[in-house]
Amino acid sequence: MNNSERIALLHKMRTEAQLGGGEERIHRQHARGKNTARERLTLLLDKGSFRELDPFVTHRSYDFGLEKERPLGDGVITGYGTVNGRLVYVFSQDFTVFGGSLSESHAEKIVKIMDMAMRNGAPVIGLNDSGGARIQEGVISLGGYAEIFLRNTLASGVVPQVSVIMGPCAGGAVYSPAITDFIIMVKETSHMFVTGPEVVKTVTHEDVSFEELGGAHTHASKSGVAHFVADNEEDALFISQQLLSYLPQNNLEDPPYLPTTDDALRRDPELDSIIPDHPNKPYDMHEVIQRVVDDGRFLEVHRHYAQNILVGFARLGGRSVGIVAQQPSYLAGVLDIDASIKGGRFVRFCDAFNIPLITFEDVPGFLPGVAQEHGGIIRNGAKLLFAYCEATVPKITVITRKAYGGAYCVMNSKHIRGDLVLAWPTAEIAVMGPEGAVNIIYRRQLAEAADPAAERARLVAEYRQKFANPYVAASRGYIDDVIEPHETRPRLINALEMLRNKRDANPYKKHGNIPL
Ligand code: HXC
Repeated sequence: MNNSERIALLHKMRTEAQLGGGEERIHRQHARGKNTARERLTLLLDKGSFRELDPFVTHRSYDFGLEKERPLGDGVITGYGTVNGRLVYVFSQDFTVFGGSLSESHAEKIVKIMDMAMRNGAPVIGLNDSGGARIQEGVISLGGYAEIFLRNTLASGVVPQVSVIMGPCAGGAVYSPAITDFIIMVKETSHMFVTGPEVVKTVTHEDVSFEELGGAHTHASKSGVAHFVADNEEDALFISQQLLSYLPQNNLEDPPYLPTTDDALRRDPELDSIIPDHPNKPYDMHEVIQRVVDDGRFLEVHRHYAQNILVGFARLGGRSVGIVAQQPSYLAGVLDIDASIKGGRFVRFCDAFNIPLITFEDVPGFLPGVAQEHGGIIRNGAKLLFAYCEATVPKITVITRKAYGGAYCVMNSKHIRGDLVLAWPTAEIAVMGPEGAVNIIYRRQLAEAADPAAERARLVAEYRQKFANPYVAASRGYIDDVIEPHETRPRLINALEMLRNKRDANPYKKHGNIPL
């Protein structure tokens, strides 16, 4: 073979690798409203930035007829490229090749880029579209999964890991995404389950559709497995680009700075009247967040799950922040099991990646009830508490209204190393709400009163005046300052600047024992 023939062979192989499982299967993929693995990478990465690795890898099976088909790349495209000029490592599973199922070689390719990502300190984005372990390879394929799970775990807290689910993800295919930091699912075309509807029917006799069992809506609102729901594949890839823009490349870097034209000294007078006069009337905490952060932009995480707590990313004065906030317009912003888990996980992510935390607090307490107690609100509520306690990033709290009971302690109070705790004049800080407190401490007095209702109203008003304000806490220094709501943005940006070089550490240990 002469040189030009060798080059021609390379071209031929490259062309063959482009086709994955062949034109007919590509056509089927398109007919389902799905892009191919390569098209997805083109949409995700900066133009011309993708460098593929291992395009000539093939599977090593000689059984079950697999030996007749040995497609180049073996069902996954791997490599690196840039998103908005920043390096990322990527893998994109090709459903046209044995349903994107994971073989030994397929796993090795993913493991290779994960090892490179950890060594070189850049995020890993996985585009998942896979029928799980390649059945014909048996235990070898299971071993491949385990190698990936190990890398996911070791990379956790070292480089950001994002999983975009773009087709069926069954069996082992769900556990790698489950260990990563964020899961983005595409409406209607993506599904995640450990076992599909047919197995469910055999084992538990339940009749359930693909969508109901493991569709995007189910995982975004019921199980909490999915952090984002995308309208289509383009939207899913756009969400991953947005998400990366808030994150550092690795745990040793600070998050990127994005200059803004939104004035750091901007005051918002509308905030002064956002809290209703009646303490039990709701308002939308989204509005508070949007009025404070740069350009009103808030990338909400877990938007459809445990909506009594809001978590997500924004920028203040160009710097990334993680926001945790109660939502008074959903279950009065109470802390329940799901909210605690959602908040705890987000706090830990931000802490791992040096993203300062801003907490907007309006919480009536932990949710009482048999279901919550039996479901483990003690153990699960402790997750959020643990996460806030151990976090060493800059931590700032703004108490907008209620800070009652245990929830006062949990939501980044001064006592658990909150760096700066600010309160609006509308803040109410006490062991419990006035009605509950009056019923307990004045029980006898109320029973003996000639007009119990009038007496209760008088005592509630008295309690409210005495305790339901920020000044008892402020007189002890538990609150650093009481501020007017309209100055929240400049105060927060100023505080972040003040905390810019914060250094704090926890005692040396192998790792803590968060109550799982
Ligand atoms: C080998 C597979 C495969 C698999 C699909 N294919 N899954 N090949 N191993 N796991 C192949 C099919 O034979 C078919 O090949 C092509 O992929 C497309 O599959 P279809 O069934 O035609 O597609 P569709 O109707 O869209 O259904 C997709 C699917 C279904 C829902 C993913 O294929 C399915 O249920 N697959 C099995 C899922 C599963 O149970 N996996 C094992 C999980 S156990 P042709 O040649 O026709 O194109 C596991 C253990 C790990 O993963 C545990 C770790 C903790």
